[in-house]
Amino acid sequence: MEDTRTDSPLLEAINLTKRYEDGTLALDDVSFKVYPGEVYAMLGGNGAGKTTTINLFLNFIEPTSGEARVDGIVTHVDPLAAKSKLAYVSENVMLYPNFTALQNLDYFARLGGKTSYSKDDYRRVLTRVGLEEEAHDRRLKGFSKGMRQKCGIAIAILKDAPAILLDEPTSGLDPKAGLEFTRLLQSLRDEGRAILMSTHDIFRAKDISNTVGIMNRGKIVMQKTSAELEGVDLEQIYVEYMAGYMDDAGVAAEEVA
Ligand SMILES: Nc1ncnc2c1ncn2[C@@H]1O[C@H](COP(=O)(O)OP(=O)(O)OP(=O)(O)O)[C@@H](O)[C@H]1O
Ligand SMILES: [Mg+2]
Repeated sequence: MEDTRTDSPLLEAINLTKRYEDGTLALDDVSFKVYPGEVYAMLGGNGAGKTTTINLFLNFIEPTSGEARVDGIVTHVDPLAAKSKLAYVSENVMLYPNFTALQNLDYFARLGGKTSYSKDDYRRVLTRVGLEEEAHDRRLKGFSKGMRQKCGIAIAILKDAPAILLDEPTSGLDPKAGLEFTRLLQSLRDEGRAILMSTHDIFRAKDISNTVGIMNRGKIVMQKTSAELEGVDLEQIYVEYMAGYMDDAGVAAEEVA
Protein backbone atom coordinates (compact mmCIF):
# COMPACT_ATOMS: atom_id res chain seq x y z
CA MET A 1 0.00 0.00 0.00
CA GLU A 2 1.60 3.23 -1.07
CA ASP A 3 1.53 6.15 1.30
CA THR A 4 0.57 9.26 -0.62
CA ARG A 5 -0.60 11.45 2.26
CA THR A 6 1.22 14.67 2.94
CA ASP A 7 -0.04 15.30 6.49
CA SER A 8 1.56 13.63 9.52
CA PRO A 9 0.34 10.46 11.19
CA LEU A 10 -0.78 10.76 14.81
CA LEU A 11 0.35 7.25 15.61
CA GLU A 12 3.32 5.63 13.97
CA ALA A 13 5.15 2.39 14.60
CA ILE A 14 8.58 2.37 12.98
CA ASN A 15 10.32 -1.01 12.82
CA LEU A 16 8.95 -1.66 16.28
CA THR A 17 10.51 -4.72 17.89
CA LYS A 18 10.07 -6.13 21.39
CA ARG A 19 11.91 -9.04 22.92
CA TYR A 20 10.82 -9.65 26.51
CA GLU A 21 13.37 -10.41 29.21
CA ASP A 22 12.67 -14.14 28.96
CA GLY A 23 13.66 -14.11 25.28
CA THR A 24 10.17 -14.08 23.75
CA LEU A 25 10.17 -12.11 20.51
CA ALA A 26 6.69 -10.60 20.86
CA LEU A 27 7.00 -7.98 18.12
CA ASP A 28 9.23 -8.21 15.10
CA ASP A 29 9.86 -5.14 12.95
CA VAL A 30 6.32 -3.77 12.86
CA SER A 31 5.57 -0.54 11.00
CA PHE A 32 2.26 1.22 10.42
CA LYS A 33 0.68 4.67 10.52
CA VAL A 34 -2.63 5.99 11.78
CA TYR A 35 -3.68 9.43 10.57
CA PRO A 36 -6.17 11.83 12.17
CA GLY A 37 -9.70 10.67 11.40
CA GLU A 38 -8.68 7.05 10.93
CA VAL A 39 -9.26 3.75 12.67
CA TYR A 40 -6.57 1.06 12.49
CA ALA A 41 -7.62 -2.39 13.72
CA MET A 42 -5.12 -5.05 14.68
CA LEU A 43 -6.39 -8.58 14.29
CA GLY A 44 -4.51 -11.70 15.25
CA GLY A 45 -4.61 -14.77 17.44
CA ASN A 46 -3.72 -14.96 21.11
CA GLY A 47 -0.10 -13.98 21.61
CA ALA A 48 0.24 -12.31 18.20
CA GLY A 49 1.61 -9.10 19.72
CA LYS A 50 -1.39 -6.73 19.76
CA THR A 51 -1.28 -5.79 23.44
CA THR A 52 2.50 -5.50 23.25
CA THR A 53 2.07 -2.96 20.44
CA ILE A 54 -0.41 -0.91 22.46
CA ASN A 55 1.77 -1.09 25.58
CA LEU A 56 4.72 0.24 23.59
CA PHE A 57 2.68 3.28 22.50
CA LEU A 58 1.80 3.85 26.14
CA ASN A 59 5.45 3.32 27.15
CA PHE A 60 4.34 0.73 29.70
CA ILE A 61 7.25 -1.21 28.20
CA GLU A 62 10.26 -0.07 26.15
CA PRO A 63 11.05 -1.32 22.66
CA THR A 64 14.07 -3.50 22.02
CA SER A 65 14.53 -1.56 18.80
CA GLY A 66 12.51 0.72 16.60
CA GLU A 67 10.10 3.32 17.94
CA ALA A 68 6.50 4.17 18.60
CA ARG A 69 5.60 7.79 17.89
CA VAL A 70 2.61 9.82 19.00
CA ASP A 71 2.19 13.01 17.01
CA GLY A 72 5.87 12.77 16.16
CA ILE A 73 6.97 12.26 19.79
CA VAL A 74 8.98 9.09 20.40
CA THR A 75 7.21 7.45 23.35
CA HIS A 76 10.30 6.05 25.09
CA VAL A 77 12.17 9.35 24.71
CA ASP A 78 9.45 11.67 26.03
CA PRO A 79 6.76 9.44 27.58
CA LEU A 80 4.90 12.22 29.41
CA ALA A 81 4.51 14.38 26.33
CA ALA A 82 3.40 11.34 24.33
CA LYS A 83 0.90 10.25 26.99
CA SER A 84 -0.67 13.71 27.09
CA LYS A 85 -1.83 13.06 23.53
CA LEU A 86 -3.21 9.59 24.24
CA ALA A 87 -6.36 8.25 25.79
CA TYR A 88 -6.40 4.56 26.62
CA VAL A 89 -9.17 2.08 27.29
CA SER A 90 -7.97 -1.30 28.54
CA GLU A 91 -9.81 -4.56 28.12
CA ASN A 92 -10.76 -4.62 31.77
CA VAL A 93 -11.46 -1.05 32.71
CA MET A 94 -10.27 -0.45 36.27
CA LEU A 95 -12.33 2.18 38.02
CA TYR A 96 -13.37 2.83 41.61
CA PRO A 97 -16.12 0.38 42.58
CA ASN A 98 -17.39 2.52 45.45
CA PHE A 99 -17.68 5.66 43.33
CA THR A 100 -20.68 6.30 41.13
CA ALA A 101 -20.22 6.58 37.37
CA LEU A 102 -20.33 10.36 37.68
CA GLN A 103 -17.82 10.41 40.54
CA ASN A 104 -15.45 8.19 38.58
CA LEU A 105 -15.59 10.58 35.64
CA ASP A 106 -14.98 13.56 37.89
CA TYR A 107 -12.08 11.81 39.66
CA PHE A 108 -10.30 10.73 36.50
CA ALA A 109 -10.93 13.99 34.65
CA ARG A 110 -9.35 15.93 37.51
CA LEU A 111 -6.50 13.46 37.73
CA GLY A 112 -5.87 14.23 34.06
CA GLY A 113 -5.81 17.97 34.84
CA LYS A 114 -9.29 18.77 33.52
CA THR A 115 -10.98 20.87 36.18
CA SER A 116 -13.52 22.83 34.18
CA TYR A 117 -16.09 20.09 33.54
CA SER A 118 -19.52 20.42 35.13
CA LYS A 119 -21.87 17.63 36.22
CA ASP A 120 -23.88 18.32 33.10
CA ASP A 121 -20.77 17.73 30.99
CA TYR A 122 -20.29 14.36 32.68
CA ARG A 123 -23.93 13.41 32.15
CA ARG A 124 -23.72 14.40 28.51
CA VAL A 125 -20.68 12.20 27.93
CA LEU A 126 -22.22 9.27 29.82
CA THR A 127 -25.31 9.60 27.65
CA ARG A 128 -23.15 9.81 24.53
CA VAL A 129 -21.44 6.52 25.35
CA GLY A 130 -24.83 4.91 25.93
CA LEU A 131 -24.94 4.60 29.70
CA GLU A 132 -28.57 4.88 30.76
CA GLU A 133 -29.44 7.84 32.93
CA GLU A 134 -30.56 5.75 35.86
CA ALA A 135 -27.00 4.36 36.07
CA HIS A 136 -25.19 7.71 36.20
CA ASP A 137 -25.51 7.95 39.98
CA ARG A 138 -25.06 4.27 40.74
CA ARG A 139 -21.88 2.79 42.16
CA LEU A 140 -19.66 0.98 39.72
CA LYS A 141 -19.54 -2.22 41.74
CA GLY A 142 -22.94 -3.28 40.45
CA PHE A 143 -22.04 -2.56 36.81
CA SER A 144 -21.72 -5.15 34.08
CA LYS A 145 -18.53 -5.34 32.02
CA GLY A 146 -20.17 -3.39 29.19
CA MET A 147 -21.28 -0.63 31.54
CA ARG A 148 -17.76 -0.32 32.95
CA GLN A 149 -16.41 -0.26 29.41
CA LYS A 150 -18.71 2.66 28.61
CA CYS A 151 -17.39 4.56 31.64
CA GLY A 152 -13.84 3.90 30.49
CA ILE A 153 -14.63 5.32 27.09
CA ALA A 154 -16.35 8.32 28.66
CA ILE A 155 -13.16 9.03 30.61
CA ALA A 156 -11.13 8.68 27.43
CA ILE A 157 -13.42 11.18 25.67
CA LEU A 158 -13.12 13.66 28.55
CA LYS A 159 -9.34 13.54 28.23
CA ASP A 160 -9.91 15.06 24.80
CA ALA A 161 -6.77 13.44 23.41
CA PRO A 162 -6.14 13.37 19.65
CA ALA A 163 -5.30 9.64 19.70
CA ILE A 164 -7.18 6.79 21.35
CA LEU A 165 -5.82 3.29 22.04
CA LEU A 166 -8.25 0.48 22.74
CA ASP A 167 -7.31 -3.09 23.64
CA GLU A 168 -10.19 -5.42 22.72
CA PRO A 169 -12.85 -2.84 23.47
CA THR A 170 -15.82 -4.93 22.33
CA SER A 171 -14.91 -8.19 24.04
CA GLY A 172 -17.72 -9.12 26.38
CA LEU A 173 -20.16 -6.58 25.02
CA ASP A 174 -23.60 -7.80 23.98
CA PRO A 175 -24.50 -7.25 20.29
CA LYS A 176 -26.47 -4.05 20.95
CA ALA A 177 -23.70 -2.57 23.09
CA GLY A 178 -21.17 -3.68 20.47
CA LEU A 179 -23.08 -1.89 17.75
CA GLU A 180 -23.47 1.26 19.85
CA PHE A 181 -19.77 1.09 20.53
CA THR A 182 -19.01 0.87 16.84
CA ARG A 183 -21.11 3.97 16.17
CA LEU A 184 -19.34 5.80 18.97
CA LEU A 185 -15.93 4.97 17.53
CA GLN A 186 -17.12 6.22 14.16
CA SER A 187 -18.19 9.53 15.65
CA LEU A 188 -14.82 9.90 17.42
CA ARG A 189 -13.06 9.11 14.17
CA ASP A 190 -15.19 11.66 12.35
CA GLU A 191 -14.13 14.27 14.91
CA GLY A 192 -10.61 13.71 13.59
CA ARG A 193 -9.16 11.43 16.24
CA ALA A 194 -6.77 8.64 15.39
CA ILE A 195 -7.86 5.31 16.82
CA LEU A 196 -5.72 2.18 17.22
CA MET A 197 -7.54 -0.87 18.47
CA SER A 198 -6.96 -4.56 18.88
CA THR A 199 -9.89 -6.86 18.38
CA HIS A 200 -10.91 -10.45 17.70
CA ASP A 201 -14.07 -9.24 15.99
CA ILE A 202 -13.30 -9.56 12.27
CA PHE A 203 -16.64 -8.22 11.09
CA ARG A 204 -16.59 -5.16 13.29
CA ALA A 205 -12.97 -4.50 12.33
CA LYS A 206 -13.91 -4.51 8.66
CA ASP A 207 -16.98 -2.39 9.34
CA ILE A 208 -15.24 0.53 11.05
CA SER A 209 -11.58 0.48 10.10
CA ASN A 210 -9.74 2.50 7.50
CA THR A 211 -6.97 -0.06 7.72
CA VAL A 212 -6.88 -3.61 9.04
CA GLY A 213 -3.62 -5.30 9.97
CA ILE A 214 -3.44 -9.02 10.66
CA MET A 215 -0.69 -9.96 13.09
CA ASN A 216 0.86 -13.36 13.49
CA ARG A 217 3.82 -14.17 15.75
CA GLY A 218 4.84 -10.55 16.14
CA LYS A 219 4.64 -9.61 12.49
CA ILE A 220 2.04 -7.82 10.40
CA VAL A 221 1.36 -10.48 7.80
CA MET A 222 -1.40 -8.57 5.99
CA GLN A 223 -2.42 -4.93 5.90
CA LYS A 224 -5.26 -3.64 3.78
CA THR A 225 -7.30 -0.47 3.53
CA SER A 226 -11.09 -0.49 3.63
CA ALA A 227 -11.08 0.13 -0.14
CA GLU A 228 -8.88 -2.92 -0.66
CA LEU A 229 -11.17 -4.98 1.56
CA GLU A 230 -14.30 -4.09 -0.41
CA GLY A 231 -16.04 -7.33 -1.39
CA VAL A 232 -13.31 -9.38 0.26
CA ASP A 233 -14.05 -12.20 2.70
CA LEU A 234 -11.81 -11.01 5.53
CA GLU A 235 -12.68 -13.99 7.69
CA GLN A 236 -11.47 -16.35 4.99
CA ILE A 237 -8.25 -14.36 4.54
CA TYR A 238 -7.73 -14.30 8.28
CA VAL A 239 -8.08 -18.06 8.62
CA GLU A 240 -5.68 -18.59 5.72
CA TYR A 241 -3.05 -16.29 7.21
CA MET A 242 -3.39 -17.96 10.57
CA ALA A 243 -2.86 -21.34 8.93
CA GLY A 244 0.28 -19.80 7.47
CA TYR A 245 -0.23 -20.56 3.83
CA MET A 246 -0.52 -17.07 2.48
CA ASP A 247 2.53 -15.05 1.55
CA ASP A 248 2.94 -11.32 2.12
CA ALA A 249 1.17 -10.45 -1.11
CA GLY A 250 -1.90 -12.37 0.00
CA VAL A 251 -1.40 -15.19 -2.46
CA ALA A 252 -2.11 -18.72 -1.27
CA ALA A 253 0.95 -20.97 -1.39
CA GLU A 254 -0.65 -23.55 -3.64
CA GLU A 255 -1.52 -20.85 -6.18
CA VAL A 256 2.12 -19.86 -6.58
CA ALA A 257 3.52 -23.38 -6.24
N1 LIG B 1 5.61 -9.56 30.15
C1 LIG B 1 5.87 -10.53 29.27
N2 LIG B 1 6.97 -11.30 29.39
C2 LIG B 1 7.25 -12.27 28.50
N3 LIG B 1 6.50 -12.54 27.42
C3 LIG B 1 5.38 -11.80 27.26
C4 LIG B 1 5.00 -10.77 28.16
N4 LIG B 1 3.85 -10.21 27.73
C5 LIG B 1 3.53 -10.87 26.60
N5 LIG B 1 4.45 -11.82 26.32
C6 LIG B 1 4.46 -12.71 25.16
O1 LIG B 1 4.51 -11.90 24.00
C7 LIG B 1 3.73 -12.44 22.95
C8 LIG B 1 2.70 -11.42 22.50
O2 LIG B 1 1.77 -11.20 23.55
P1 LIG B 1 0.60 -10.10 23.48
O3 LIG B 1 0.00 -10.01 24.84
O4 LIG B 1 1.14 -8.87 22.89
O5 LIG B 1 -0.40 -10.80 22.46
P2 LIG B 1 -1.89 -10.37 22.01
O6 LIG B 1 -1.87 -10.29 20.54
O7 LIG B 1 -2.33 -9.18 22.76
O8 LIG B 1 -2.74 -11.64 22.43
P3 LIG B 1 -4.28 -11.77 22.96
O9 LIG B 1 -5.14 -11.79 21.74
O10 LIG B 1 -4.28 -13.08 23.69
O11 LIG B 1 -4.55 -10.61 23.87
C9 LIG B 1 3.15 -13.74 23.51
O12 LIG B 1 3.99 -14.78 23.13
C10 LIG B 1 3.20 -13.53 25.00
O13 LIG B 1 3.31 -14.77 25.66
MG1 LIG C 1 -3.87 -8.81 24.08
